[in-house]
Amino acid sequence: QIDEAEVVAFSVPSYACLRRTTLDNHNPVLTDALSLLAENAELSDEDGRGVAFRRAAAVLKALPEPVTGVTQLRGLPCLGGHSLRVIRDILENGASSEVEFTKQSERFKALKVLTDIFGVGAKTAERWIRDGIHSLHQLQESGQTLNRAQQAGLEHYDDLKQPVTKAEADAIGEIVEEAVVSVLPGAQITLIGGFRRGKLTGHDVDFLITHPEEVLSLQGFLLYQKTTRNSYLEAKDGPARPASNMDRFERCFSIFKLADAEKRGTKQTENTPEDTCRLAAHSRWRAVRVDLVVSPISQFAFALLGWTGSKLFERELRRWAGHEKAMSLSSHALYDNKQGRYLKATSEEEIFTYLGLEYIPPSERNA
Ligand code: GTP
Ligand code: MN
Ligand code: MN
Repeated sequence: QIDEAEVVAFSVPSYACLRRTTLDNHNPVLTDALSLLAENAELSDEDGRGVAFRRAAAVLKALPEPVTGVTQLRGLPCLGGHSLRVIRDILENGASSEVEFTKQSERFKALKVLTDIFGVGAKTAERWIRDGIHSLHQLQESGQTLNRAQQAGLEHYDDLKQPVTKAEADAIGEIVEEAVVSVLPGAQITLIGGFRRGKLTGHDVDFLITHPEEVLSLQGFLLYQKTTRNSYLEAKDGPARPASNMDRFERCFSIFKLADAEKRGTKQTENTPEDTCRLAAHSRWRAVRVDLVVSPISQFAFALLGWTGSKLFERELRRWAGHEKAMSLSSHALYDNKQGRYLKATSEEEIFTYLGLEYIPPSERNA
């Protein structure tokens, strides 16, 4: 009964970094469906399809109101035939048969369960599934050798599946801050990732620490840690040179031991065997995924921009930089290919300006 001419036609720029995407999503059913297909593609080593579904979902997240008919989508970017078919299915039948089929499929369910283990990627899960392993129980019975990360991931599986709250993120922030400042007075610690974008929960907590040299000591708090020393060094004459001790960039993907709220006042100690055997009912702490990124002050703005996300927003920023500006953007630096030099910046705003983009605050980077 709606006259087609009256239908609201949406207009959305094709790069996600040109859009303001808040957490106020008016089309969660459609974006959840497309995100699930993206996840399935990513888990199946089909990254191209994964990105296509992520881009389609991000366009719908940017719409100012719910979509009621496919005619409203005419002229929107990033909506390929496949995504449109899924959207039409949901708008007309209430559900997408492909999404429902995927959700029910044994393969997808097994890939999800296995890759939900910290330290397990799609490749490993795929190999295990080929060996007939579809569940945690089957994995434990199989006698597969697990690396340290996977052992820790399996041990803390239930905890790590629980979303992390903002209150927990803040509690960890205080502990990390205290540890950092005791090593290096004046160091800056910034909450990044989803929480910086205003999310109320996350799958982990991400921090950026600006810190010129020393190595952090959070030993008593970490149940697992893998520290990567990055070999990047800013250079005048080309993109990458071997790192020196003075100018390194470290990150640490860890599992953090966070005491229950009522216990947080008291000092935490090393793990005891009793801790490891704690009963869920009497739990006095929980495991939380924490990512620590350490950046030299000269790279702070790039690290901040590069680790705030969302993942798609970051990807689109790099695509914009490369395709539209002939620049290479990373979480360390911005290189101008035409001028043949690095562009220095001390704030995110400056980087957006170099890229010829309007500044988008973190809360509007939820593409
Ligand atoms: P939740 O944690 O689920 O709330 O979402 P999130 O947006 O915080 O995601 P996540 O913690 O996975 O990533 C946060 C940011 O770190 C995103 O911008 C990612 O692009 C970035 N990131 C994650 N892993 C890596 C990595 O291995 N290398 C680099 N350079 N960036 C990464
Ligand atoms: Mn995160
Ligand atoms: Mn993270």
